[in-house]
Amino acid sequence: MGFYQDQIVPLLINLAMRRRDLAAYRSRVVPAADGRVLEIGVGSGLNLPFYSRSVERLIGLDPSPKLLSMLRRNLRPNMPSLELIEGSAEAIPLDNNSVDAVVTTWTLCSIPDAARALREVHRVLRSTGRLLFIEHGRAPEPNVRWWQDHLTPTWKRIGGGCHLNRAGSSLFYFDHSICPASTFFGI
Ligand SMILES: C[S@@+](CC[C@H](N)C(=O)[O-])C[C@H]1O[C@@H](n2cnc3c(N)ncnc32)[C@H](O)[C@@H]1O
Repeated sequence: MGFYQDQIVPLLINLAMRRRDLAAYRSRVVPAADGRVLEIGVGSGLNLPFYSRSVERLIGLDPSPKLLSMLRRNLRPNMPSLELIEGSAEAIPLDNNSVDAVVTTWTLCSIPDAARALREVHRVLRSTGRLLFIEHGRAPEPNVRWWQDHLTPTWKRIGGGCHLNRAGSSLFYFDHSICPASTFFGI
């Protein structure tokens, strides 16, 4: 991975994702999670203050050891009971039908095989479970898409694998076998 990807990118992610305007989106999505919850791409834990008391257990999954160690440093006593797993959402190390909600915020853009990650989400969710997500994606305007397509090859190298032009929302909307129930907020 190298020093930039391992040490610098996590610091940049934490800085960028702390933006106050993003908190408004977090507050509309994250409190809806309850029961046994899996957050994929938990990062430095910026969603943690937004979970409600209905969360019995939170499992945070992320491939970055640096972000997970930042999260551990930011833990507060009033946060939900937490288990952290270093790993990828493309191979979630949990049993089938074992969680009540999966939360993901601005993460599907960075997962190399997002469709595989969504199949994994579907596998671990109980039949009554919910996927709660916030994502950005491919713009409807052709001129913006042009810029997204041209910037993505460079941006994903400096931005932790983030694809500016990924058609994330269509993955949710059009394959209901992958996401039987979902809430969508885009930026
Ligand atoms: C833009 S950050 C968002 C972090 C956090 N969700 C938030 O809202 O602040 C993208 C996150 O996706 C994580 N990520 C990248 N590849 C992943 C993968 N294969 N599986 C799970 N998470 C991944 C990154 O480590 C990072 O924490």
